[in-house]
Amino acid sequence: MTVAPVYKQGWTMDDIHWSLFDPAKVEPALLSAIKAAALVEYNAPDYVTYLKRVFAGSGPDIFAAIEQWGREEAQHGRALGRWAEIADPSFKLEEAFARFRKGYTPAHFTEGDGSVRGSRRGEMIARCVVESGTSSYYSAMRDASEEPLLREIAGRIAADEYRHYKLFYDTLHKQDEPDMPFWRKIWVAVTRVRESDDDELAYAYYCANVPAEQEAAKPYDRALYSRLAARTGMTIYRRQHIQRLVQMVAKVVGANPHGWLANMGGALLWRMMQRKAASAA
Ligand SMILES: [Fe+2]
Ligand SMILES: [Fe+2]
Repeated sequence: MTVAPVYKQGWTMDDIHWSLFDPAKVEPALLSAIKAAALVEYNAPDYVTYLKRVFAGSGPDIFAAIEQWGREEAQHGRALGRWAEIADPSFKLEEAFARFRKGYTPAHFTEGDGSVRGSRRGEMIARCVVESGTSSYYSAMRDASEEPLLREIAGRIAADEYRHYKLFYDTLHKQDEPDMPFWRKIWVAVTRVRESDDDELAYAYYCANVPAEQEAAKPYDRALYSRLAARTGMTIYRRQHIQRLVQMVAKVVGANPHGWLANMGGALLWRMMQRKAASAA
């Protein structure tokens, strides 16, 4: 039995064992998904600006934590991007990212103040949902890939994402705003999950996988690229990753992570994902 290594917070690009790379073990569909994930992660500085606006006047500690979080997310993008560049030398992270930036800026990053979720607590619940998703996604990627370098990178990122969840979970409970009603928390969580279907990942998948010179021949089609982006995502998950994801979300909305609601949610989500994976294939 092999014991998974423990990756502590604060790793750098130099800590990664790049020489482990084995080109024979690269899986093309996973490579496409990683290119897209790299762009989304690399876009973290925008979220830092937005989150700092949400926490305006909250003191230097939370600002420092948000900045550290943003640096870690951007490094996820850099690490995944470098892995993709090694696996496919025609891929260039900076070039693909520049195209992604040009075509994708969600409105709430550039205008307004406060949280689009209505409160800081709502914002933290939405962040926890995202970190639950990324933590289980990279765990699934680590477990699904046979390429040793990718397994290491995904393992490091998954550990970071879990720490991010804890950061936002603790921040949620430190807010002196009144607690939100249960239904309202569920609503924020479900809304955030539904947004995962939005343009961000689909467009990242497009910019990462369709070279600039083919843009005219293969214009962006949201439904198509959203389906392509989902295809790999759906197939790498195992049942235990989904259960873990649902448990983390249950905990943040104040439900019992091991109760009937979480169990039913896990079973439902698993069935939905299998159906989506089948239709996307
Ligand atoms: Fe990340
Ligand atoms: Fe994260």
